Amino acid sequence: MTIDRNPAPPMIDPFGRAINYLRVSVTDRCDFRCTYCMSENMTFLPKKDLLTLEELDRLCTVFVEKGVKRLRLTGGEPLVRKNIMHFIRSLSRHLQSGQLDEITITTNGSQLSRFADELADCGVRRINVSLDTLDADKFRRITRWGDIDRVHAGLEAARRAGLKIKINTVALKGFNDVEIPEIMRWAHGLGMDMTVIETMPMGEIDEDRTDNYLPLSLLRAQLAQQFTMQEIAYKTGGPARYVEIEQTGGRLGFITPMTHNFCESCNRVRLTCTGTLYMCLGQDDAADLRKPLRDSEGNELLATAIDNAILRKPKGHDFIIDRRSSKPAVARHMSVTGG
Ligand code: 5AD
Ligand code: SF4
Repeated sequence: MTIDRNPAPPMIDPFGRAINYLRVSVTDRCDFRCTYCMSENMTFLPKKDLLTLEELDRLCTVFVEKGVKRLRLTGGEPLVRKNIMHFIRSLSRHLQSGQLDEITITTNGSQLSRFADELADCGVRRINVSLDTLDADKFRRITRWGDIDRVHAGLEAARRAGLKIKINTVALKGFNDVEIPEIMRWAHGLGMDMTVIETMPMGEIDEDRTDNYLPLSLLRAQLAQQFTMQEIAYKTGGPARYVEIEQTGGRLGFITPMTHNFCESCNRVRLTCTGTLYMCLGQDDAADLRKPLRDSEGNELLATAIDNAILRKPKGHDFIIDRRSSKPAVARHMSVTGG
């Protein structure tokens, strides 16, 4: 294959951070309704507002040409979007050309039995699976109606397909704090990494997030009583800081947006399924890419709109969770920008 193009200059934000990671929320819909993520009666985007998968492909491709090396597909639940595998297969051409280093997905695992083999076949090597408990009843409660057996079957299919799996667990006080050591032993026993995440104040939900907020500094201190943790330099391109657990031989990552500022090394921007680009998970400022996408068949307008957006990338988020602030820091739910 001949690649004859002048590479565009890398995207550098006003704070000198190179932007080489794009997260794409391909749908805001999900087959679960995790209580910390969504309200029970969510209003989802009208289907007519969605970009087509062809349009999303075109957008991703412009980002790849502008230096994005890693692409993560998220949601909502990315695997519930119709024809999603066709989209992933199409994007995989950028893996083959060497322009893109990896395509990953963040999924709740419910559809993995169906898709694991095909994902592997498209060149996906690693996936993140969100799982907050191993107890079937608690799982049903936290997801409001999810079936944990389907997730287990999905994980099994993913392992058989040779995908590397990381389990993402949101740390929730009074829900899974005491269970986290058990989840970790289980994950490590099956050769999976695990990351724990602090709840972030994104979008209205039916409960008060303060009730469940568990600072990971506390969790870490609790774990230190049972486990020997060795800080390691391991990085996956995200904000997690990893330790190796001597007793299990596995890796545990901490994502601490609330207790640590994780913004300094931010290398990413987030695209929604309507073509809105968020420069920061914790800020409302966004750039509309749908109009420049649709206004012209060429990509110049789009490239300029992206450049202008990157110039507005803020230094960091202003998340706070406390009793005085009853409103979420940002109005949109995580399912809009996909974490
Ligand atoms: N705070 C922290 N994590 C969240 N997730 C969804 N909503 C929130 C929130 N408000 C998690 C999901 C998934 C990842 C994409 O983000 O559980 O693991
Ligand atoms: Fe769906 Fe993930 Fe939100 Fe749960 S946390 S409702 S699985 S998007």
